[in-house]
Amino acid sequence: MFPESRPRRLRRTPALRALVRETALAPSQLILPIFVIPGEGKRESIAALPGVDRLSADLAAELAAEAAGLGVSGVLLFGLPQDKDAVGSSAWDQDGPVPEAVRAIRSAAPGLVIATDVCLCQYTSHGHCGLVSTDGEILNDASLPGLARAAVAHARAGADLVAPSDMFDGRVAAIRDALDLEGYGESVGILAYSSKFASSFYGPFRAAAGSTPTQGDRRSHQLDPANRREAIREGLIDEEEGADMLMVKPALPSLDVIADLSAETDLPVLAYQVSGEYAMLKHAAAAGAFVFQAALLESLVAIRRAGARATITYGAIDVARWLA
Ligand code: PBG
Repeated sequence: MFPESRPRRLRRTPALRALVRETALAPSQLILPIFVIPGEGKRESIAALPGVDRLSADLAAELAAEAAGLGVSGVLLFGLPQDKDAVGSSAWDQDGPVPEAVRAIRSAAPGLVIATDVCLCQYTSHGHCGLVSTDGEILNDASLPGLARAAVAHARAGADLVAPSDMFDGRVAAIRDALDLEGYGESVGILAYSSKFASSFYGPFRAAAGSTPTQGDRRSHQLDPANRREAIREGLIDEEEGADMLMVKPALPSLDVIADLSAETDLPVLAYQVSGEYAMLKHAAAAGAFVFQAALLESLVAIRRAGARATITYGAIDVARWLA
């Protein structure tokens, strides 16, 4: 008790604070998301996501090499295809933007971890994450083969990790089976978006990826933000189905889930600081609310403190540079 207890003694100087700091950020804990588009030499800015561009494979490879040079461990690729249809068949096009970018990045930055988002929402004309019945129902089991085919296409291109983000039941097992059958049992892991909430914070991403559903929403498959226990259950199910890593998103609104899930599993738990979280920091900083760099670093420390082994963030390159 005071006056014997004086925690401020350890906060008196920068060196004392450094000595007792519990959480450290390092570039190796970061993964950079990249939006890839068809073509060559193409760069498109994204109004809803300041500072982030859509890139063709060649420019994505340049960016990935820059990230690797700064010590960032990996990239997570999202594809924006030329063509969409009702079943999302461009998702498993071996010459689609994601496989093309995987190959380009593999040669530009050989050691970088390449993860690919596996979902159909960017590839379907209706914007849903899987198949939709004639009366508008989002179909679970019927969607699994397409997801598995997309994962295999990414594996064939050379991805290290495939990352199913659809939140359908059984997708991790379906993808694991397909990868094993195709000979990727030893080499390709699954980073499961296991605890993914139905969140407003994906807004800028959907604008960037053109993946807003034309009708309905994602609440029949993504988690209710009110549910913590169910979020843990989803993670443990994905682990049992064969996931190698679990992921919680959005990050800052889900620190409790990151902490709880990390306590419940021995798998690495990753967090995704999503588009809306990043854009919110950018917009607030532009309005003078705070300094972007300090606010971004503080968010990432909090996410790490909660238990995230690594964080996917649009700020990965900036942060790696600041930490250098
Ligand atoms: C779906 C997917 C989404 C995000 C990652 N994968 C959007 C969604 O579920 O609607 C969101 C990521 C972000 O907001 O940065 N393919």
